[in-house]
Amino acid sequence: MGKAQIGVYGLGTMGSALALNMAEHGVDVAVTNREADWIAPFMTEAGDLAARLHPHEELAAFVAALATPRVILFMIPSGAPMDAMLEQIMPLLAPGDTVIDGGNADFHATRRRAAALAKQDLHFVGMGVSGGEAGARHGPSMMVGGSAHSWRQVHPILTAIAARYEDSPCVAHLGPDGAGHFVKTVHNGIEYADMQVIAEIYSLLRNGLALPPAEIGALFEAWNAGPLRSYLVEITAKLLTYADPETGHPMVDVIKDAAGQKGTGRWSVIEALRMGQSASMLEAAVGARSWSSEKETRQAAEAVLGGAVGAIEASPDVLAEAFLAARILAHAQGFRVLASASEEYDWSLDFGSIARIWRAGCIIRSALLDEIAIAFEGDLPEGQLILDPGLAQTLARCVPALRQVVGSAVHGGHPVPALSAGLAWYDSMRLGHGSANMIQAQRDMFGHHGFERLGQAGLHHGPWWD
Ligand code: 6PG
Repeated sequence: MGKAQIGVYGLGTMGSALALNMAEHGVDVAVTNREADWIAPFMTEAGDLAARLHPHEELAAFVAALATPRVILFMIPSGAPMDAMLEQIMPLLAPGDTVIDGGNADFHATRRRAAALAKQDLHFVGMGVSGGEAGARHGPSMMVGGSAHSWRQVHPILTAIAARYEDSPCVAHLGPDGAGHFVKTVHNGIEYADMQVIAEIYSLLRNGLALPPAEIGALFEAWNAGPLRSYLVEITAKLLTYADPETGHPMVDVIKDAAGQKGTGRWSVIEALRMGQSASMLEAAVGARSWSSEKETRQAAEAVLGGAVGAIEASPDVLAEAFLAARILAHAQGFRVLASASEEYDWSLDFGSIARIWRAGCIIRSALLDEIAIAFEGDLPEGQLILDPGLAQTLARCVPALRQVVGSAVHGGHPVPALSAGLAWYDSMRLGHGSANMIQAQRDMFGHHGFERLGQAGLHHGPWWD
């Protein structure tokens, strides 16, 4: 028997879906799993594809089954399990071999692991995989960080299994070491912001315009045929049509309003702040999930503070325009974070390429990403999408709606943390002259920190020090 082209370690949901996807594309895949008893059921599930899948219970046999230089994809929980696996597998590898971490890993850990493996001439790839189980099985979007050597090894396989937007595969080599995992982290930050914006718009339709879930679902379905087209709008429309089999109530009504989070959204915000940026809509989305988890406090506070909300004055059409403005602003913040990281870590990220591989397969795929890909064909300093003439025009058209929605929501007591953060950012960025002169004056008065004068170089102090 010939050697396998790639090994997949970890036959959980994502690992098995990727292995099956590879087998379906004619790739010979060696597979294994920490719990050996997962392997046989996986092979049965594989059906005809089992012919291309080569199961091994022992790690050494799994490694020996691979063509050299080897490529091994790990689909296991990120963090300590990855370090433990590397310790076990490194003695079995040879110079030139590549290990891929396809989980949602912290890019700092990816950089550390890449540096450690490089000492033995081994290659470590941090690969963001988006699209959930269906994406992994039938075409994910993949964000690859690692050496050019690894990219040469893996790109035929990844190109074969990737999602396609028109004819173009949604996978790219984005940079060295942690670049792929960083881009995936920001993808998730944007995902959080877009989901939060959808939740806010849904809540305004429900509680501000008193529409029932089925009607809201129909609106989302209609929106999905226009500029708001996206996977998240599509699934929102669908999920709103479901009734709870137990009670007959709309399914969405019986789900506890406390959101989970595994960490990637939070990382995107932490990294933004670390680099002196503020992706306020991403932060609002992370924060809103945290507040949502304080269900008991909110219930107690409702009794103390009064929880009534009023009607809003904004039609569904106005809400749709506000949504589009907010979506553009969230992406603009996300790409700004990518631009900072690219500079900080010397990655030379290609923002156009990132937008292109997000157009299909991933959770944030949308019509907007096609426009963003086109916007990056032009010259946008520091990745600032708000400077693109086309997007700026859409913002000029839709921001009045965002203003109306936020104003009316605030007036009626509806929480709109992401929509209002987006508007505040837009209003801050469009003013060539803001309010930070006051901050500078205060800093100088209490701490002698100094300030720059308009049109004059150097550090100055106010007359309060004379
Ligand atoms: C994707 C998703 C995926 C996942 C995250 C979201 O791109 O396919 O982002 O990676 O859904 O786990 O995580 P939370 O549990 O933090 O929402």
